[in-house]
Amino acid sequence: MSTPYASFPAGRPRRLRRDDFTRRLVRENRLSADDFIYPVFVLQGQGRREAVPSMPGVERLSLDLLLPVAEECLALGIPALALFPVIDASLKDAQGSEAANPEGLIPAAVRGLKARFPELGVMTDVALDPYTNHGQDGLLDESGYILNDPTVAQLVKQALAHAAAGADIVAPSDMMDGRIGAVRQALEAAGHVHTRIMAYSAKYASAFYGPFRDAVGSAASLGKSNKKVYQMDPANSNEALREVALDIAEGADMVMVKPGLPYLDVLRRVKDEFAMPTFAYQVSGEYAMLKAAAQNGWLAHDAAMLESLLAFKRAGADGVLTYFAREAARLLKSGAPY
Ligand code: PBG
Repeated sequence: MSTPYASFPAGRPRRLRRDDFTRRLVRENRLSADDFIYPVFVLQGQGRREAVPSMPGVERLSLDLLLPVAEECLALGIPALALFPVIDASLKDAQGSEAANPEGLIPAAVRGLKARFPELGVMTDVALDPYTNHGQDGLLDESGYILNDPTVAQLVKQALAHAAAGADIVAPSDMMDGRIGAVRQALEAAGHVHTRIMAYSAKYASAFYGPFRDAVGSAASLGKSNKKVYQMDPANSNEALREVALDIAEGADMVMVKPGLPYLDVLRRVKDEFAMPTFAYQVSGEYAMLKAAAQNGWLAHDAAMLESLLAFKRAGADGVLTYFAREAARLLKSGAPY
């Protein structure tokens, strides 16, 4: 890029920073509630509310208590919620069978939310880890290796159960090969032609998912094992472009890079290369870091939160999945800059 610009003293970049009015006039990116998808953790039952200790301000909620949260999101202008299940240990098995139950926790939550708030977007996570007793996102062979194609078959059933319940967006977060194509074909065959797929295309084997695994209760099952045989190596970025290309070819409507801030370079490359609707996931560990520092008085919470969210826009994201969605939307509504 070669933007001509007068050299000093004719050119003084600080002129445009001097006053709020010029800063606003030349601001290149803006945050709004439209940019957010709010991830929530759903509990079975009624009247249940549990704090997630490693994610201050985040609670697991049963559907009845989630409804007022959804109502607030709608009022704040947040376009969509992303649902994550907390499955009772008694329902977990090696195959994650419960994931495909059309009457399961997530399909029921989707129905409940869509019945009350039809205009609120509801996105579901397509992955087996909250449902397996080993905490992996797939079926295992005798050696413990995560099998690809049998896992995809199970994911297809899960996605169909979500779509049948009325999920607007299904979001496969498992990183099996070929799952976007398989899910898309199955949705079409079942007449779910409007169901959108947001593909977790470039999802890394990251240490920043720790608090999420506490929240859904897969951390204990996973133990010391990791997800490196299917999630991406944090060292790679060309590979992310190949993953995204596959998902687009297989029928993804939107693609995602995850985690967020540590992978802004990948986000920018994906946006520049494909010009697709591109999302970032500011994951649980990123949220926890900011919250912890703010709680210690080491960071100014609101300013750091908005700055981190704005960074996603600058890097090319069309939207962000963030646990800050509600807080940030409230702040923006109150007239905070960005
Ligand atoms: C499930 C899934 C994970 C996250 C979203 N979907 C965890 C994982 O892959 O282990 C992480 C989200 C977060 O950390 O906020 N496959």
